[in-house]
Amino acid sequence: VNPESVLLCPLGTTAAPEQKLLCIFGTGDLGRSLGQRLLQCGYRVVYGSRRPNSCGPLPRGTKAMNHEAAAMSAALVFVCVHRENYDFLEALAPQLKGKVLVDVSNNLKKNLYPESNAEYLQRLIPGAHVVKAFNTLSAWSLQNGPSDANRQVYLCGNSVQAKQAVEEMATKLGFAALDRGSLSAAGELEDFPLQLFPEWRLPLRVAVGLTAFFFFYLLMRDVVYTYVEQGKDISFRIMVSLANKVFPIVSLIMLALCYVPGVIAAFLQLYRGTKYRRFPDWLDRWMLCRKQLGLIALGFAFLHVFYTLIIPIRYYVRFRISESTISQIRENRTSVFDTTRAWRADSYYSMGILGFGLYVLLGISSLPSVSNALSWREFSFIQSKLGYLTVFFCTFHTYLYGWDRFLHPYSYKWFTPPGYLLSLVVPSVLIVLKLLLLLPCVDRSLTRIRQGRERTDPE
Ligand code: HEM
Repeated sequence: VNPESVLLCPLGTTAAPEQKLLCIFGTGDLGRSLGQRLLQCGYRVVYGSRRPNSCGPLPRGTKAMNHEAAAMSAALVFVCVHRENYDFLEALAPQLKGKVLVDVSNNLKKNLYPESNAEYLQRLIPGAHVVKAFNTLSAWSLQNGPSDANRQVYLCGNSVQAKQAVEEMATKLGFAALDRGSLSAAGELEDFPLQLFPEWRLPLRVAVGLTAFFFFYLLMRDVVYTYVEQGKDISFRIMVSLANKVFPIVSLIMLALCYVPGVIAAFLQLYRGTKYRRFPDWLDRWMLCRKQLGLIALGFAFLHVFYTLIIPIRYYVRFRISESTISQIRENRTSVFDTTRAWRADSYYSMGILGFGLYVLLGISSLPSVSNALSWREFSFIQSKLGYLTVFFCTFHTYLYGWDRFLHPYSYKWFTPPGYLLSLVVPSVLIVLKLLLLLPCVDRSLTRIRQGRERTDPE
């Protein structure tokens, strides 16, 4: 054994480092959870409280003092108090001078106050170094330590040293600190926890918009048309037949919409001859919500599959089958087996099943636990190559389902095209554009641009 490879430092010869003392103002849920976590990570903790002798149970090993004494004892103070109660801090300005004050507060609503809580705190105690941090974490995640979804601690402040101290402590607690700049960013950090699924908002709007449009469009074409033109009430079809048109139509359009921005981006790069110019904001936003668009589309595809599965047990369908059988017997008719129809039905089912299988694979590979286990190449292979194959299968499924129906005038009730034809527009355009991009000459130029060459560069 190479003796140099062993650390020659006998155990027990280095003195145990003094555990750092931190102070927490506020003994509510967040203050207590934070204290517990700090204790577990080797810090000593004192609480500052209005009523140090009757502030309820605190984590074992900590003690409560009045605010003045607690503030004097530590160099870093967490303010776990609601903003409305900050005024008492003004009186503590002398004790808090030069200390790092960590503001963890949040508000109940956006734009409740003209300035952020952290900036307000800094104004109350100009001599302290206020750092905004930890406000995006819940008491639960503070107590239990970080998990995948809430590993990040965003922080901001005007003093670099103060931020460093908080960053060091956050890292010791197992979080990854992300510096968002000066204290003027505090307002933005305080809005983070108030956002409800921000990256889902646009895809949900698209889904609701398309669903509403196709629902009313098909309601008019199927139910209202039959009632007005033939006097028949077929409103019962809203529940299954109509739903089983709206959901797959929206699913197919949204699936295609996941891939459209990539194609637009490619054409934009080809047109500009460089990859170094920013995409327009709308394209960036569209690209960023592709995963959510795809997952909602997958949900709709599941609904279509479930609705399809119940077709054979529907009363309406069973009634129609037995009615046609009985009338054939009565009239002594036999229907001839139509091989083309069999081919058509089996092919579109098969395409649907293959498309759905790949669709599910895309959904699974977009889960963080799965995508984190894949290399970038594997992930982009699944999301891009298999993604386009999914679009192709689902589009082909719909083409086969339509077959020659679009040739018949009865398909254009009140001069409107059937829903499935409308659903084919976006995916068909997408497939054509993608095929154009795959042409060897186009592909070569695009690859060159993506490797960083500019069109003006010499060959
Ligand atoms: C229509 C089956 C997957 C898109 C249909 C229909 C059936 C069917 C039976 C005709 C419904 C009717 O008569 O009203 C299946 C099966 C699937 C599958 C068994 C897989 C297990 C998919 C997927 C998509 C899709 C993944 C793509 C998103 C469509 C569309 C229609 C359709 C757009 C036309 C709706 C209309 O206007 O009537 N499918 N499908 N299908 N399917 Fe699928």
